[in-house]
Amino acid sequence: MTKYKSVLVISDLHIPYHHRDAFKFLTALKNKYKPDLVVNIGDELDQHAISMHDHNPDLMSAGDELKSSRVYVKELEKIFPKMILVHSNHSSLVFRRALKYGLPKEYLRSYNEYLNVGKGWQWVDDLRITLSDNSRCFFTHGLAADVLRVAQQYGMNTVQGHYHTKFSIGYYSNPDALIWGMQVGSLINQKSLAFEYAKNFKTRFIVGCGMIIEGQPKLMPMVLKDGGDWIGKIV
Ligand SMILES: [Fe+2]
Repeated sequence: MTKYKSVLVISDLHIPYHHRDAFKFLTALKNKYKPDLVVNIGDELDQHAISMHDHNPDLMSAGDELKSSRVYVKELEKIFPKMILVHSNHSSLVFRRALKYGLPKEYLRSYNEYLNVGKGWQWVDDLRITLSDNSRCFFTHGLAADVLRVAQQYGMNTVQGHYHTKFSIGYYSNPDALIWGMQVGSLINQKSLAFEYAKNFKTRFIVGCGMIIEGQPKLMPMVLKDGGDWIGKIV
Protein backbone atom coordinates (compact mmCIF):
# COMPACT_ATOMS: atom_id res chain seq x y z
CA MET A 1 0.00 0.00 0.00
CA THR A 2 1.31 3.41 -0.95
CA LYS A 3 1.83 5.85 1.90
CA TYR A 4 1.98 9.42 0.68
CA LYS A 5 4.55 11.78 2.12
CA SER A 6 3.87 15.00 0.26
CA VAL A 7 0.39 15.63 -1.15
CA LEU A 8 -0.61 18.75 -3.07
CA VAL A 9 -4.33 19.56 -2.93
CA ILE A 10 -5.76 21.89 -5.56
CA SER A 11 -9.34 23.08 -5.53
CA ASP A 12 -11.76 25.37 -7.34
CA LEU A 13 -9.69 26.66 -10.22
CA HIS A 14 -12.91 27.30 -12.18
CA ILE A 15 -11.01 27.30 -15.51
CA PRO A 16 -11.19 29.47 -17.66
CA TYR A 17 -12.03 31.94 -14.89
CA HIS A 18 -9.05 30.98 -12.70
CA HIS A 19 -6.56 33.45 -11.26
CA ARG A 20 -4.06 34.46 -13.98
CA ASP A 21 -1.08 33.44 -11.81
CA ALA A 22 -2.58 30.22 -10.46
CA PHE A 23 -0.51 27.91 -12.68
CA LYS A 24 2.73 29.75 -11.84
CA PHE A 25 1.87 29.41 -8.15
CA LEU A 26 1.17 25.68 -8.53
CA THR A 27 4.42 25.19 -10.47
CA ALA A 28 6.36 26.89 -7.65
CA LEU A 29 4.72 24.57 -5.09
CA LYS A 30 5.52 21.53 -7.22
CA ASN A 31 9.18 22.55 -7.48
CA LYS A 32 9.51 23.34 -3.80
CA TYR A 33 7.64 20.40 -2.24
CA LYS A 34 7.94 17.69 -4.95
CA PRO A 35 4.54 16.10 -4.18
CA ASP A 36 4.25 12.35 -4.59
CA LEU A 37 0.50 12.77 -5.13
CA VAL A 38 -1.54 15.61 -6.65
CA VAL A 39 -5.26 15.66 -5.85
CA ASN A 40 -7.63 18.12 -7.49
CA ILE A 41 -10.74 18.17 -5.34
CA GLY A 42 -13.02 19.67 -7.93
CA ASP A 43 -14.47 22.61 -9.81
CA GLU A 44 -11.41 22.47 -12.06
CA LEU A 45 -13.78 23.80 -14.72
CA ASP A 46 -16.36 26.51 -14.28
CA GLN A 47 -18.69 25.52 -17.15
CA HIS A 48 -20.55 28.77 -16.56
CA ALA A 49 -22.22 28.64 -19.98
CA ILE A 50 -23.89 25.27 -19.30
CA SER A 51 -24.63 25.82 -15.62
CA MET A 52 -28.12 25.60 -14.15
CA HIS A 53 -28.04 29.33 -13.30
CA ASP A 54 -28.58 32.35 -15.56
CA HIS A 55 -25.74 32.83 -18.03
CA ASN A 56 -24.04 36.16 -18.32
CA PRO A 57 -24.44 37.25 -21.97
CA ASP A 58 -21.13 39.12 -21.77
CA LEU A 59 -19.21 35.89 -21.18
CA MET A 60 -18.16 33.17 -23.63
CA SER A 61 -20.64 30.83 -25.32
CA ALA A 62 -20.61 27.19 -24.17
CA GLY A 63 -18.53 26.18 -27.21
CA ASP A 64 -16.00 28.96 -26.75
CA GLU A 65 -15.75 28.27 -23.02
CA LEU A 66 -14.89 24.63 -23.71
CA LYS A 67 -12.28 25.61 -26.35
CA SER A 68 -10.68 28.09 -23.99
CA SER A 69 -10.80 25.62 -21.08
CA ARG A 70 -9.02 22.94 -23.14
CA VAL A 71 -6.06 25.26 -23.74
CA TYR A 72 -5.65 25.87 -19.99
CA VAL A 73 -6.26 22.22 -19.13
CA LYS A 74 -3.44 21.25 -21.53
CA GLU A 75 -1.16 23.71 -19.75
CA LEU A 76 -2.11 22.23 -16.38
CA GLU A 77 -1.58 18.70 -17.67
CA LYS A 78 1.96 19.68 -18.69
CA ILE A 79 2.64 20.77 -15.10
CA PHE A 80 0.88 17.76 -13.55
CA PRO A 81 0.77 14.83 -15.99
CA LYS A 82 -0.56 12.66 -13.15
CA MET A 83 -3.48 13.86 -11.07
CA ILE A 84 -6.50 12.41 -9.32
CA LEU A 85 -9.61 14.56 -9.71
CA VAL A 86 -12.65 14.33 -7.48
CA HIS A 87 -16.13 14.81 -9.00
CA SER A 88 -17.77 18.13 -8.21
CA ASN A 89 -20.80 20.26 -8.91
CA HIS A 90 -19.29 22.41 -11.69
CA SER A 91 -17.12 19.87 -13.45
CA SER A 92 -19.92 17.31 -13.63
CA LEU A 93 -22.36 19.72 -15.31
CA VAL A 94 -22.34 17.79 -18.61
CA PHE A 95 -23.45 14.64 -16.77
CA ARG A 96 -25.97 16.53 -14.63
CA ARG A 97 -27.50 18.15 -17.73
CA ALA A 98 -27.70 14.77 -19.44
CA LEU A 99 -29.39 13.23 -16.40
CA LYS A 100 -31.94 16.04 -16.31
CA TYR A 101 -32.91 15.42 -19.94
CA GLY A 102 -32.81 11.63 -19.69
CA LEU A 103 -29.66 10.91 -21.71
CA PRO A 104 -27.89 7.64 -20.80
CA LYS A 105 -24.18 7.93 -19.99
CA GLU A 106 -23.31 5.75 -22.99
CA TYR A 107 -24.02 8.71 -25.27
CA LEU A 108 -21.51 10.90 -23.50
CA ARG A 109 -17.77 11.33 -23.78
CA SER A 110 -15.60 10.86 -20.71
CA TYR A 111 -13.79 13.78 -19.04
CA ASN A 112 -10.49 12.56 -20.53
CA GLU A 113 -11.99 12.56 -24.02
CA TYR A 114 -13.73 15.90 -24.05
CA LEU A 115 -10.83 17.67 -22.34
CA ASN A 116 -8.18 15.91 -24.49
CA VAL A 117 -6.14 14.76 -21.50
CA GLY A 118 -4.24 11.50 -21.10
CA LYS A 119 -4.84 8.60 -18.74
CA GLY A 120 -2.61 10.24 -16.13
CA TRP A 121 -5.67 12.22 -15.07
CA GLN A 122 -8.15 10.01 -13.32
CA TRP A 123 -11.58 11.10 -12.06
CA VAL A 124 -13.07 9.48 -8.94
CA ASP A 125 -16.20 10.12 -6.83
CA ASP A 126 -14.13 10.72 -3.74
CA LEU A 127 -10.78 9.50 -2.46
CA ARG A 128 -9.29 7.87 0.63
CA ILE A 129 -5.55 7.39 1.00
CA THR A 130 -3.00 6.48 3.64
CA LEU A 131 -0.48 9.14 4.64
CA SER A 132 3.16 8.54 5.60
CA ASP A 133 2.30 8.75 9.32
CA ASN A 134 -0.16 5.84 8.78
CA SER A 135 -3.22 8.04 9.28
CA ARG A 136 -6.01 7.97 6.73
CA CYS A 137 -7.24 10.95 4.72
CA PHE A 138 -10.53 11.55 2.92
CA PHE A 139 -10.86 14.00 0.00
CA THR A 140 -14.23 15.34 -1.11
CA HIS A 141 -15.31 18.40 -3.04
CA GLY A 142 -17.48 19.62 -0.15
CA LEU A 143 -20.00 17.70 1.94
CA ALA A 144 -20.75 20.11 4.80
CA ALA A 145 -19.81 23.68 5.75
CA ASP A 146 -17.99 22.36 8.81
CA VAL A 147 -15.14 20.18 7.57
CA LEU A 148 -14.51 18.80 11.07
CA ARG A 149 -18.02 17.36 11.09
CA VAL A 150 -17.18 15.42 7.93
CA ALA A 151 -13.89 14.29 9.51
CA GLN A 152 -15.83 13.03 12.52
CA GLN A 153 -18.39 11.24 10.36
CA TYR A 154 -15.68 9.50 8.33
CA GLY A 155 -13.40 9.01 11.33
CA MET A 156 -10.35 10.30 9.47
CA ASN A 157 -8.49 13.44 8.36
CA THR A 158 -10.52 15.26 5.71
CA VAL A 159 -9.83 17.83 2.98
CA GLN A 160 -12.54 19.90 1.33
CA GLY A 161 -12.88 22.70 -1.22
CA HIS A 162 -16.15 24.11 -2.56
CA TYR A 163 -16.49 26.87 0.03
CA HIS A 164 -14.42 29.54 -1.71
CA THR A 165 -14.15 31.79 1.34
CA LYS A 166 -12.94 29.06 3.71
CA PHE A 167 -9.23 28.50 4.32
CA SER A 168 -8.67 26.77 7.60
CA ILE A 169 -7.39 23.82 9.58
CA GLY A 170 -9.24 22.46 12.61
CA TYR A 171 -8.49 19.53 14.90
CA TYR A 172 -10.31 17.19 17.22
CA SER A 173 -8.91 14.47 19.36
CA ASN A 174 -10.06 11.39 21.19
CA PRO A 175 -8.05 9.10 23.46
CA ASP A 176 -6.60 7.29 20.42
CA ALA A 177 -6.07 9.90 17.74
CA LEU A 178 -5.62 13.49 16.65
CA ILE A 179 -7.67 14.14 13.54
CA TRP A 180 -7.74 17.26 11.37
CA GLY A 181 -9.96 18.86 8.75
CA MET A 182 -8.67 21.32 6.14
CA GLN A 183 -10.47 23.75 3.82
CA VAL A 184 -8.18 24.74 0.98
CA GLY A 185 -9.76 27.90 -0.50
CA SER A 186 -9.84 28.44 -4.26
CA LEU A 187 -7.71 29.64 -7.19
CA ILE A 188 -10.31 31.89 -8.78
CA ASN A 189 -10.20 35.29 -10.37
CA GLN A 190 -13.05 36.70 -8.31
CA LYS A 191 -13.30 39.75 -10.59
CA SER A 192 -14.47 37.59 -13.49
CA LEU A 193 -18.09 38.15 -14.52
CA ALA A 194 -18.69 34.46 -13.80
CA PHE A 195 -18.57 35.37 -10.09
CA GLU A 196 -20.70 38.48 -10.28
CA TYR A 197 -23.09 36.90 -7.77
CA ALA A 198 -20.39 37.34 -5.10
CA LYS A 199 -19.64 40.99 -5.95
CA ASN A 200 -21.48 42.45 -3.00
CA PHE A 201 -20.52 39.84 -0.43
CA LYS A 202 -18.62 41.20 2.53
CA THR A 203 -16.28 38.21 2.46
CA ARG A 204 -13.87 37.53 -0.42
CA PHE A 205 -12.76 34.28 -1.97
CA ILE A 206 -9.46 33.14 -0.53
CA VAL A 207 -6.77 32.26 -3.06
CA GLY A 208 -4.49 29.38 -2.16
CA CYS A 209 -4.33 25.64 -1.85
CA GLY A 210 -3.30 22.96 0.61
CA MET A 211 -0.53 20.45 1.21
CA ILE A 212 -0.14 17.45 3.47
CA ILE A 213 3.43 16.87 4.54
CA GLU A 214 4.29 13.82 6.65
CA GLY A 215 0.63 13.50 7.66
CA GLN A 216 0.20 17.14 8.70
CA PRO A 217 -1.96 19.70 6.87
CA LYS A 218 -0.43 22.97 5.64
CA LEU A 219 -2.26 25.91 4.12
CA MET A 220 -0.53 27.57 1.17
CA PRO A 221 -1.90 31.08 0.68
CA MET A 222 -1.25 32.64 -2.73
CA VAL A 223 -0.34 36.09 -1.49
CA LEU A 224 -1.34 38.91 -3.86
CA LYS A 225 0.01 42.41 -4.41
CA ASP A 226 -2.24 45.44 -4.75
CA GLY A 227 -3.74 45.05 -8.18
CA GLY A 228 -4.14 41.31 -7.78
CA ASP A 229 -0.91 39.77 -9.14
CA TRP A 230 0.78 37.01 -7.14
CA ILE A 231 3.86 38.23 -5.24
CA GLY A 232 5.84 35.49 -7.01
CA LYS A 233 7.06 33.49 -4.04
CA ILE A 234 5.78 30.88 -1.61
CA VAL A 235 5.53 32.28 1.90
FE1 LIG B 1 -16.22 26.10 -6.65
